[in-house]
Amino acid sequence: MTEFPKHFIWGTATSSYQIEGAWLEGGKGLSIWDAFCHTPGKIKHGQTGDVASDFYHRYKDDIALMAQLGYKNYRFSLSWPRIQPTGYGKPNPEGIRFYSDLIDTLLEHGITPWITLYHWDLPLALQLEHHGWLNPKTAEFFVDYADICFEHFGDRVKHWITLNEPWVVAILGFHDGAMAPGRSSNHEPYLVGHQLLRAHGLTVERYRQKFQSRQKGMISLSNNCDWREPLTDSPQDQAAAQRAVEFFLGWFADPVFLGDYPEVMRSRLGDRLPQFTDKDRELIHGSGDFFGLNHYTTLYCAQRKEGEAVDPFTFGNGGIMEDQDIKLVLDPSWETTTMGWAVAPWGCRKLLNWIDKRYDHPPILLTENGCALPDQVKEGRVNDQKRIEFLKSYILECHQAIQQGIDLRGYFCWSFMDNFEWSLGFSQRFGLVFIDYNNLKRYPKDSAFWYGNVIRNNVIQA
Ligand code: GAL
Repeated sequence: MTEFPKHFIWGTATSSYQIEGAWLEGGKGLSIWDAFCHTPGKIKHGQTGDVASDFYHRYKDDIALMAQLGYKNYRFSLSWPRIQPTGYGKPNPEGIRFYSDLIDTLLEHGITPWITLYHWDLPLALQLEHHGWLNPKTAEFFVDYADICFEHFGDRVKHWITLNEPWVVAILGFHDGAMAPGRSSNHEPYLVGHQLLRAHGLTVERYRQKFQSRQKGMISLSNNCDWREPLTDSPQDQAAAQRAVEFFLGWFADPVFLGDYPEVMRSRLGDRLPQFTDKDRELIHGSGDFFGLNHYTTLYCAQRKEGEAVDPFTFGNGGIMEDQDIKLVLDPSWETTTMGWAVAPWGCRKLLNWIDKRYDHPPILLTENGCALPDQVKEGRVNDQKRIEFLKSYILECHQAIQQGIDLRGYFCWSFMDNFEWSLGFSQRFGLVFIDYNNLKRYPKDSAFWYGNVIRNNVIQA
């Protein structure tokens, strides 16, 4: 039996576009994800999030189910165009009411809300009229939107995450083109990343100046990072793995926790990496009350040899892989999930260690971890033993990290329920709760009950 610290935070996570549906209801405007999904050829089987998991209509039942399962914290995101249909101007009263009722329902069930302000569904009008995240103005629009959210929800919401995974926005949205807005470039990702960091910094400044003292909440961002294990113990491979994590996590975490981009990015990218103005640097440095981390998998990393092809794990044109000059390798002996991601729980502990050292022992929250598997309902039951093993193994590594002195404060499982997995549509099932997309019926998987027991007892049974 492995016991967790008394106040360890256990939760589950989702995001607006992946679960809500109701894409044309309640006065909501369109987002870049609505447009992307309705563009033929972009999403597997032409699927969309128009209905998704229908959370917009079923949230009361879903929250009742969360409570029944014993879940105590719920991380979800707000759809910016549901709150501001064009991304600027007056808030949409129906959008405000929806989220306000959702928050009340959570609190009535004893579930603590954790809000992500941006999980990728940018109002389409901002893309069309202002070039979205390529435009420094978008950061200012974002602060206005965030201000509306703090004003309306901050009396009841004490945990805020400005951005979910800016790396994904920059790389999958502007480098690989696999995600909205679907652009492919070798320099845009760095410009977009820069504006995302500015948006984050400005928003945290707004929260701290105007709201934090009376609302008494905390605010940060959630960065994603896989672990990169050196393929061999040669100094070249070790340096390559270190460089890879700096390009992945350091890109967005260094400015927030250390005050600038990693030196290795500066020297390799030259003019392609924007400079912070003094004001922006000051704003961004220190703008995290905790270290939000989303972590799923691990790969070996080696120094790329002269002329060697870039890794097979990045779609598109290879730009950022060439910038890093690394090669990624999947060990064929590793088990993988339906995403093709390796199950390597020890990588989670190593990454937590890396963060602890580099950022001088910050309080860390694992804001996403989980796996997609080929789940099926048989006689009303989903026997997903593999997910239980996955969660158990990752959570045990987290426990080890805590034993080693790392200040890990919480763990959120991705995801509460099956949902729309972006360009892969509904083909990937990450949920603790299964959804039959023919009739939208919910079936808690075996892992859902197992996780509820972990939370209730605060222990992992051997
Ligand atoms: C994260 C993302 C989630 C979810 C998950 C599984 O990167 O924040 O929206 O899709 O990955 O792929």
